[in-house]
Amino acid sequence: PIEDRVEDLLSRMTLEEKIGQMTQINISEINTDREHEVELDPERARNVAATYQIGSFLNGFADTPQRWYDFTRELQEIVIEESRLDIPMIYGIDHMHGASYLLESTIFPHNINLANSFNTEMSRQMGKITVLESAHLGHHWNFAPVLDIGRDPRWARFYETYGEDPHLASVLGAAYTEGLEGEDRVAPHRMAATAKHFIAYSTPLSGHDRSPVDLSWQNLQEVHRPPFQAVVDAGIKTVMVNSGEVNGVPVHASKPLLTDLLRDEMGFEGVILTDWADIIKLTQLDEVGFQQEHYHHIAVDEKEATYLAIKAGIDVSMTPQSFDFVYHMKELVEEGKLTEERIDESVRRVLRLKFKLGLFENPFPTTDFFDLVGAEEHKEKALQSARESLVLLENNDGLLPLDIDQTQKILVVGPRADSKRDLSGGWTLEWQGGPEEMYPDDIHTIYTGISSTFSDSEVILMESIGEEGDSERQRFEDAAAGADVIIMALGEEPYTEFIGDINDLTLYEEQLELADVVLETGTPAVLVYVGGRPRVLSESARNSDAILFAGLPGFKGGEAVADIISGKFNPSGKLSFTYPAEPSHFTTYDHKHTDRVTAAWEFGHGLSYSEFEISDLQINSEEIGPDDYLTAEAIVTNHGPMAGQKNVLWFLRNEVSIITRPVRQLKHFEKIELEPGESQTVSFRITPEDHLYYPDKMGDDVIESGYYTLMIGDESTRFYLDVPEDRASAPAH
Ligand code: IFM
Repeated sequence: PIEDRVEDLLSRMTLEEKIGQMTQINISEINTDREHEVELDPERARNVAATYQIGSFLNGFADTPQRWYDFTRELQEIVIEESRLDIPMIYGIDHMHGASYLLESTIFPHNINLANSFNTEMSRQMGKITVLESAHLGHHWNFAPVLDIGRDPRWARFYETYGEDPHLASVLGAAYTEGLEGEDRVAPHRMAATAKHFIAYSTPLSGHDRSPVDLSWQNLQEVHRPPFQAVVDAGIKTVMVNSGEVNGVPVHASKPLLTDLLRDEMGFEGVILTDWADIIKLTQLDEVGFQQEHYHHIAVDEKEATYLAIKAGIDVSMTPQSFDFVYHMKELVEEGKLTEERIDESVRRVLRLKFKLGLFENPFPTTDFFDLVGAEEHKEKALQSARESLVLLENNDGLLPLDIDQTQKILVVGPRADSKRDLSGGWTLEWQGGPEEMYPDDIHTIYTGISSTFSDSEVILMESIGEEGDSERQRFEDAAAGADVIIMALGEEPYTEFIGDINDLTLYEEQLELADVVLETGTPAVLVYVGGRPRVLSESARNSDAILFAGLPGFKGGEAVADIISGKFNPSGKLSFTYPAEPSHFTTYDHKHTDRVTAAWEFGHGLSYSEFEISDLQINSEEIGPDDYLTAEAIVTNHGPMAGQKNVLWFLRNEVSIITRPVRQLKHFEKIELEPGESQTVSFRITPEDHLYYPDKMGDDVIESGYYTLMIGDESTRFYLDVPEDRASAPAH
């Protein structure tokens, strides 16, 4: 049994060897001067392995599977040779949307798009395809999924989230985890997932990444905990910690959050990993002057910071500032500040992870499965995922789909019209997205996607349209006058982490001006928005004849956009976030009754080329007890001319309660497919957990008698929850 092997190995390890297992080192320490692109410097690698017994490494990019294979194979050989007890290393990587640090792989849409597709199975497939394309290359530990809740679009990492809803993020995150960790696989086809960034990382007060978060316990429990709980329940193997502070305490030093909540209350038994150099960032020091603003000033030096982090519950330090971490750990144990039992707890978890992945039996990558990388069937899935993730926000007078036979001339304009990298966003090939020329030849931009789909039409590209009076503007006006339709591709360029923080959600002025010029021509216009967060559009831009939110659809995005515009695919995406109408007012669909809400488009909004009707909502009882299940049913009918998919969303509202409740909360969703004229019954089984909520203090779940409203589409009905007095919770105030 694994536990016996763990204990046996642990009992034979020296303190130095144990500390090595708690350390994860960046590729720059073992690579040649190529930095991010993998090219092992064997001498450096041997020195690091021999001196520090390092148990884990991370990062890197390669253009071919062979290069990844060569790199991880040689590194693993060196690590095992230099390990007295033959302990293999575990390699970590940010394959955030497919095996995205490998050029030839299948690149899926980012999570915000996945969430817009409301397709649980697709999330599972993305996890599975990621592992199939990369684990055999020696990638054992994937730093995904992001389970932070996207509630502030100023925050640069919004696109990495599954949107604003805890239930949606829980379901998609758990499916991805199951797909990625795949308990039925063995090394070298196995990978560990990472739930990140625990907890409440996504709502800094200023909107700036890693700046302070201040929020109620109720909010933390109800909004931010559920997706983490869902993946813990699904058996996720590792968790990465929020680099910021929550309610005055940096999470990397918070025992209440890492040990009391995550381990003891939520039941997480796996490895807790820091984010990048986050132990040194507990100090006020920054020798290299980098990211000074991310330092918390709660420890006088790295040694004290190390003590605080380990006490709080950290198991592995990702990229400590220097190898001094190893010496600090040793001193802390020798001085008796940290016990060796505490070190053993963490090392046990790391060894258990390696045993579970099968790394002791199969430590090496293999060349046998290179053909899985970018396999056609995987790319088909990525294309389908991209199509389902696009949200048709407006379609006035049924402008879309464009008739391929009737559309003779199409003008494609705007800065995002002919870029591959813009469609894929950050964490693609490189941290901030690779340079345009790095992207594969066989993937489409919006312009080339439209050109190849409308192959008999004249398709003109103008990324910029000049200034009034100049020759470029004249060319634009001439082209616009003769065009059947103008497609304007607006939005953002890629960014990653804090690099993409903004203070104002308004879309760039030049782009809004471009939209005005396009709309003034009177030629029907489609606005395609590219970017992983909702940037606020002007009122005139919102009046475009059609608006398609493309988000970050990945390598198949150009094709997917063309498929929607041509009607080859019937749009089914729905917003997984509330699209703001104002640059400084953003809220969520599950706001409180007293919130004044303005939105350009609501959570769950998304048009189809079909007309779906939801009718005949029924529940099997109008009164239930606290332990009862209730079944609700409704009928969905496709009245439109096209077959299409419908995302059916079920919401609940607690009408009157002892603490304020959201106006509605998503409790269940389902995606169905209907032919024209077809009807299908959908159902939702409401469980006792659906009535629970947390008080605004640490404490037990709350439950009380009262009316609930159940909503689906435009239908709603009420039922009464009757809780006997001895079961009902005491008022929280
Ligand atoms: O996994 C990431 C994390 O999300 C942000 N900081 C760096 C880590 C490793 O690249």
